[in-house]
Amino acid sequence: MDKKANKKLINLFKLSKQNKELSIDKLKYKKDSLNPIMSDDTLNYHYEKLAKAYADKYNNNIGDSDFNEAGVFLHNIFFKQFTEPKRSNKPFGLSLNLIESKFKTFDDFKKMIKEEAMKIQGSGWIYLSNSGDIKKIKNHQIKNDILVLIDWWEHAWALDYEHDKGKYMDNIWQIIDWNFINNKLEN
Ligand SMILES: [Fe+2]
Repeated sequence: MDKKANKKLINLFKLSKQNKELSIDKLKYKKDSLNPIMSDDTLNYHYEKLAKAYADKYNNNIGDSDFNEAGVFLHNIFFKQFTEPKRSNKPFGLSLNLIESKFKTFDDFKKMIKEEAMKIQGSGWIYLSNSGDIKKIKNHQIKNDILVLIDWWEHAWALDYEHDKGKYMDNIWQIIDWNFINNKLEN
């Protein structure tokens, strides 16, 4: 990614919320509708408490404001991507074209992103970029090229998958709203 472009985006993001409070966006689905892939217990904790705490801390100037701001930014991308689980769920249209151009098949992509995620030490995120690359984020950072974003912090999977974060990655593809992802590519 172009560092200059990223800095510009970050500055724009900062300008857009100057003197504004940050907030976590409302969910477009019910908190129990992603069961059992992502349980309502996880959403009650991860979305209701943890993600909103980043916004509260930012708004009240508690802790590291860049960290909290990026936490809000990333969670607002993350929670928008989901829809009710379907075993047969897979990308189509623009997102499928992008994935196949870089990884041959969706299965190859899933294998690769899981392998890369399992190498992450400590807390972070992993994502498919708008240009079809797999990229990682340490802790929280604002990025301008996120297409599909996976929260790899322990709080995202431990409640539902205990120690098995690989299974969380295997299952999350059942709830990705590829229609929503395709719309991101169109804009
Ligand atoms: Fe998170």
